[in-house]
Amino acid sequence: MRQKLVVGNWKLHGSKAQLEDLLADVIAGSENLTSAVEIGVCPTYVYLGHAAQILVSSRVKLGAQNVARAGEGAYTGEVAAQMLAECELVYVIVGHSERRQLFHESDTEVAEKFAQVQASDLTPILCVGETLEEREQELTDQVVLGQLDEIINKVGIEAVANSVIAYEPIWAIGTGKTASPEQAQDVHKTIRDHLRKQKEDVAATVRIIYGGSVKATNARELFQQADIDGGLVGGASLEAEEFISICNSAD
Ligand code: PGA
Repeated sequence: MRQKLVVGNWKLHGSKAQLEDLLADVIAGSENLTSAVEIGVCPTYVYLGHAAQILVSSRVKLGAQNVARAGEGAYTGEVAAQMLAECELVYVIVGHSERRQLFHESDTEVAEKFAQVQASDLTPILCVGETLEEREQELTDQVVLGQLDEIINKVGIEAVANSVIAYEPIWAIGTGKTASPEQAQDVHKTIRDHLRKQKEDVAATVRIIYGGSVKATNARELFQQADIDGGLVGGASLEAEEFISICNSAD
């Protein structure tokens, strides 16, 4: 049985005071959760050390939204995976579509970041997903599996076992347009079948979570699908009550 996972991606939101309030409310809510879901939150870099102190001894795990492709060196403005590991992090999101599209991250760069994260004993949350145009041209499987293959070619299929895959159709992110449970399940199954062809046990154990306008009202139906193991939640994770309600849908 794969343990469900719900991770909040806080993106570029919140002040320090808001982060403290939100963390306090998420911790309080997590204490009354009825489900055995694993929970994580990903604030911006600058607050990670502070967030780690607040989260200590809670069940809420910490993640980062990005990482450098290099381990060290003359890379002004970058943050290395090893530095994140020292801040008691658990996950690092790599290849989010906002990074791919707005910051022009290539598949190669995403694969390098994935490898850096694993080398520091952190868990990468690898985002894959198609644009609306690609979906309309029936290229979804090709795009998503192509993004995944870049990683497999770099780190090998075994390493994928120690990661989380997030299927995030780009047309559903921040748009309020969620993929239907059937649409999401289809792609999750395609991903798992693709992994199964290479390594049965990796396919059976790796968690594939869904992202794109997940809300309290649609989470349960999504999380009930056979190959959907939880969610990566943007906007709705900025409201503690809504986020906890989403976490409670994952049992
Ligand atoms: P959203 O974002 O839930 O606001 O659509 C999801 C994400 O970008 O991970």
